[in-house]
Amino acid sequence: MVRGLSLQEKSLPCKYFYDERGSKLFDEICELDEYYLTRTEQAIMDRYAGEMAAQLGEGVLLVEFGSGSSTKTRVLLENLLDPTGYVPIDISEEHLLRTADSLRQQFPQIEILPLVADFTREFKLPRPRVRPSHNAVYFPGSTIGNLDQWHAIQLLQNMSKLLGENGGLLIGIDLQKAPGIIHDAYNDSRGVTAEFNLNLLHRMNSELGADFEIEQFQHLANYNADLGRVEIFIVSQRRQIVTIDEHKFVFEKGERIFTEYSHKYTIDGFSELASGAGFVLHKSWTDKDSLFAVLHLVLEHSGKGAMNG
Ligand code: TRP
Repeated sequence: MVRGLSLQEKSLPCKYFYDERGSKLFDEICELDEYYLTRTEQAIMDRYAGEMAAQLGEGVLLVEFGSGSSTKTRVLLENLLDPTGYVPIDISEEHLLRTADSLRQQFPQIEILPLVADFTREFKLPRPRVRPSHNAVYFPGSTIGNLDQWHAIQLLQNMSKLLGENGGLLIGIDLQKAPGIIHDAYNDSRGVTAEFNLNLLHRMNSELGADFEIEQFQHLANYNADLGRVEIFIVSQRRQIVTIDEHKFVFEKGERIFTEYSHKYTIDGFSELASGAGFVLHKSWTDKDSLFAVLHLVLEHSGKGAMNG
């Protein structure tokens, strides 16, 4: 964190959003009227899980990146055809193992193989008891949108390495739409999103002994329609100096700390990006207002590509 604040253009790494307090605030965001993403994606899953499962095929090993509570996955697991197993991957061990227990109760017939890992790094898949006919990656939540193009392609390439023959990727993406709708989703009236963003400063105070006066900073989220992304910052309300250990940081009035992007795509635009990692769009599902989409992509060289699909 200290390194990001030392840069000419200050920034904080977004992975620090999700401590205990941050995770609770994010759950609250997902319940907000303005934050349409979670609810819309869940509705798409509820409605089309049967079709998605049919696309993923019989005897699949389902691997989820950043599984959290596996909330959206359950309806998919209910519909999978004779799956070989489910590998939820998450960095938060305690939460992952608790979720795995609950999944074992709900799905006694599916082998649950939790893996504690940072999915942005390389890792080895656990081996299920029954040999899978193929693998599928599930990556919901439009989390891919929080990566810039380069990192998104890197991650898609890592996924493609796990997939091999007949493998597929099922991924949730937030779609481009009227800017006002997107703006409100990141600027809710109750200020929960602001609180979530500013939680980064709380964390530095409690974990690094920093002395941020949090009321002297403000949440800023702007939808840049030209670039198709929400640009999220924390803005200093006056000139001020913050101390962390022996480091002193000067914030000018109006100076911004960059915290996160949230990219919004069109289905074509995302397919184009994914082709950089060898993927071809096979099928997509969306809601009636085209707010959000779930895409099934396959690897170009596998038997299920655009030619036969
Ligand atoms: N993945 C979420 C998204 O892009 C993260 C998020 C929601 C977020 N609201 C935020 C990140 C506010 C920073 C600030 O929608």
